[in-house]
Order: sequence, then C-alpha cells, then structure tokens
Amino acid sequence: MSTANNEIILNVVDLKKYFPIKQGFLVKKTVAHVKAVDGISFHVVKGKTFALVGESGCGKTTVARTVLRVLNPTSGKIVFESTDISNLRYAQLLPFRRRMQIVFQDPMGSLNPRMTVGQIVTEPMLFHKVVKNKKEAYEKAASILNTVGLKSFHLDRYPHQFSGGQRQRIAIARAVSIEPDFLILDEPTSALDVSVQAQIINLLLKFQQEYGFSYLFISHDLGLVRFISDTVGIMYLGRIVERGVTNEVFDKPLHPYSRALLSACPVPDPRVERGRQRIILKGGVPSPIVRPQGCFFHPRCPYKTDVCEKEYPEFREVSKNHWVACHLVK
Ligand SMILES: Nc1ncnc2c1ncn2[C@@H]1O[C@H](COP(=O)(O)OP(=O)(O)OP(=O)(O)O)[C@@H](O)[C@H]1O
Ligand SMILES: [Mg+2]
Repeated sequence: MSTANNEIILNVVDLKKYFPIKQGFLVKKTVAHVKAVDGISFHVVKGKTFALVGESGCGKTTVARTVLRVLNPTSGKIVFESTDISNLRYAQLLPFRRRMQIVFQDPMGSLNPRMTVGQIVTEPMLFHKVVKNKKEAYEKAASILNTVGLKSFHLDRYPHQFSGGQRQRIAIARAVSIEPDFLILDEPTSALDVSVQAQIINLLLKFQQEYGFSYLFISHDLGLVRFISDTVGIMYLGRIVERGVTNEVFDKPLHPYSRALLSACPVPDPRVERGRQRIILKGGVPSPIVRPQGCFFHPRCPYKTDVCEKEYPEFREVSKNHWVACHLVK
C-alpha cells in the first residue's frame, strides 16, 4: 500500500473482537469466545477505497461495527486521522460519529419503516447540528435526494413505498447528509440486480471524486472489488491473510486461499480466461470458536507442510506494500 505521500484517514492496528459464549442456568459463565476478529491491521488512504473480502462469517461486518465503535474492541487501536478512538467515551466519540458513516447490505432493515424519508434523512443532520433548523434540514434533504437520483416529493413517503435500489439510495442520502469523510459500505449492492448495482456504484464513485470520500468497502463480489478498490485485504477466519494494491493481489495472489478465491473471478480477456483453472477448495470454513492449530487454512490447503500444522505464519511484507501470512511464500 503506498503511504509515502498519502494521508491516512483510518489506521487499524492489531484489532481484536471476541464475543463471549456464556452457559449456565442461574449463573452464566463464559465458557469460550467467538474470535470474530483476531488481530487485523490495515489502513485507508484519504480519498481512496480499501476493500475487505472473504467468505461468509470471516468477520468483515464485525470489523466494520468495531471500527465505528458500535461494538467495543477487545483490544487494538482504531486511529481516525491522528486520534485513537478505540477507548473514547460516548461524548468524545460524537464528532467522529458525524465523520464516519455506514451503508448496510439490507436497506429495508436499516431504514426505520415508521419514519418518512424526510424524517430519515433530516434526523442525523438535526442531531449532529449541521443545519440550523428543520426548514433548512428539509431543503438540504431535498437537494441530496436529487443528487442520489430521487425527487423532492419522495420526502413524504415511507421506505416500503420504494424499490430496493431506491431504498439503497435513501440509505446513501442519509449517510452523506451530514457530510462525512469516511464511509463504510458493507455489501451495499448485494441485494440489488446488476443494473441497479451499477447505478449505485457509479453514484458512490461520483461522490468520491467530487467530495473526496474515503471508503472501506466490504463485498463478496470480487469483480466489483477489483473495479472499485485501490487496496484490498483478504480475510480468513478473523485475520487478514493477504493485503496489498488491488491489481497486484488480483494479478499475482500469493496466499493459497487468495489464489483459490480469486480463481473464481472471471478475467475480461477471453484468451486468458480460457487458459485459467478454477481452484476448488475442499471442506468448509472452520469454526471461529475452535480454530485449527497452526495456520488456520492448513486443513483446506493443498500445499501444506509440517510447519503449517504447528505454527501460525507471520504476516510479512514480501514485496513492497504486499503483505502475506503463509509459510510457503518466500
Ligand atoms: N454479537 C455476536 N455475538 C456472537 N457472535 C457473533 C456476533 N456477531 C457476529 N458473531 C460471529 O462472528 C463471526 C463473524 O461474523 P460477521 O458478521 O462479522 O461475518 P461476515 O464476514 O460479515 O459474514 P457475511 O459475509 O455473511 O456478512 C461469525 O462466526 C458470527 O457468528
Ligand atoms: Mg457481513
């Protein structure tokens, strides 16, 4: 990841989030932990996009919720610009809450069905006092709705009166209404069909170009990640196994898991596509409660050696800005 001349907006260092599993009838005791996020580090450069990819359950949404401090981290640092926000209390967090926003996968679940679009979009503006009064908030909301491709008469309608794509536009309008610098997009288009997906992605890119937004983009869709992101981290069972500039990681993935995952992503050149081989992984993702000894990926890895069964590999920078955790990569 190039950092030399670039300002970093978000720096996450060795972040961990464990969820306790409690058992017992009257007295509940912690018997184990779900290690949803287990020591991950990455940064987002101002005005750029960092993507997190990985199988379902590997901890992507937990990273998003912990970075926003909806969840408290078990340990690690979350540095926004130059402030460590990992231990800030509610009142101290408020200014950062205004600057960091999230758009979720399911717009119906993230919009209050009893509020009109006008109330939904103006509420954060009034709460964070970015406008003087309700009238100004509604004027601003109407202009934002136009920017996201909706009309001002939509302000009086309720979320159920819109299509999925329109609802996602409302969620984006609400997120950008308070002029944040940093947005987390947690699978923002996975519930939408391809053409609506393209419209939403173009809208997000337009915002990035016009207002310099920085994005943490979470997705299963590898084609989309390649298109939208500058840098990428590949997650497996709560850890990042490979991280680097998107084009380099996609062209030359080094970790066996990344190779398998990216072999499923089609290449636009038909000659290259014809010669490519899909790597089919055997077995499922192990449990984040009882993880394998050694490298977490070794039970599914076709290249594993003795050391892979014993030690978790160090996360090393193997070439400039290209980091990987694998014993076999020299
Ligand atoms: N509040 C919670 N309590 C206990 N376990 C949790 C909690 N939230 C998430 N988990 C567990 O943490 C792990 C990671 O979940 P997370 O939602 O972060 O995965 P994800 O990568 O976002 O998956 P998906 O791609 O399906 O959205 C899962 O095993 C999940 O069951
Ligand atoms: Mg998720």
